[in-house]
Amino acid sequence: MVPFKIDGQSVEGKEGAHILEVALDAGFEIPHLCYNESLKPYGACRLCLVEVTRKGRTRMTTSCNHPVMEGIEVFTRSENVLRARRMIIELLLGMCPGDKLLQEMAADMGVYDVRFKKGDKDCILCGLCARVCDEVVGAHAIQFASRGDRREMVPPFGEATNCIACGACVVACPVNVVGMKDEGDERTIVRWKRTLKMKQCKVCGNYFAPWFQLEKFREKAKLPKDFYDTCYTCRS
Ligand code: SF4
Ligand code: FES
Repeated sequence: MVPFKIDGQSVEGKEGAHILEVALDAGFEIPHLCYNESLKPYGACRLCLVEVTRKGRTRMTTSCNHPVMEGIEVFTRSENVLRARRMIIELLLGMCPGDKLLQEMAADMGVYDVRFKKGDKDCILCGLCARVCDEVVGAHAIQFASRGDRREMVPPFGEATNCIACGACVVACPVNVVGMKDEGDERTIVRWKRTLKMKQCKVCGNYFAPWFQLEKFREKAKLPKDFYDTCYTCRS
């Protein structure tokens, strides 16, 4: 275990852990949008900024990807941190002014308006959808494209042919802009314009998951051909 301090309080984190996860576990509140404990840290939103003092030098850093180190002092609510956080949430809100979560987070930080030209996007470019798709599902169905103002999250070449419509990206998206619809025997992942036929359970008759997803899982786990003839509920 690595001993260090957060806002004057002594804490310990596992070797290799990052400041944000240790701080959250210890009950400190640090706003964050692109962090998910099941995924590698990415440092995209920059909301998790803190000040870290090490060997007498203090610098601002993102806490989600900064490793814990013996003897460091972390400040989560210094004047510099609060000022930088307000600027970041204002930039995010300027990019996606209609987003409810950003509006609430901004209000919590005392930011009620944006001082520069507002954009009309809804995606905060946190990358969580693509990271969960790559790191957990292994489908690699979406990725970032373009740079600067035109940067966006899209399926490669505009076609989500690798998407298995599992919905992991829908759950991971912190601002809820991916969207999934199950209608009859079809599931659509709205943002990626991917519609797949669902498999019907032989026992209860419910449509329970996309064929393509079940086939991929079955092949990967080398399961028998009839393994997914029944849904999870009827099988258990
Ligand atoms: S769609 Fe959602 S999860 Fe994906 S990058 Fe945009 S905000 Fe993040
Ligand atoms: S949570 Fe650390 S940069 Fe987004």
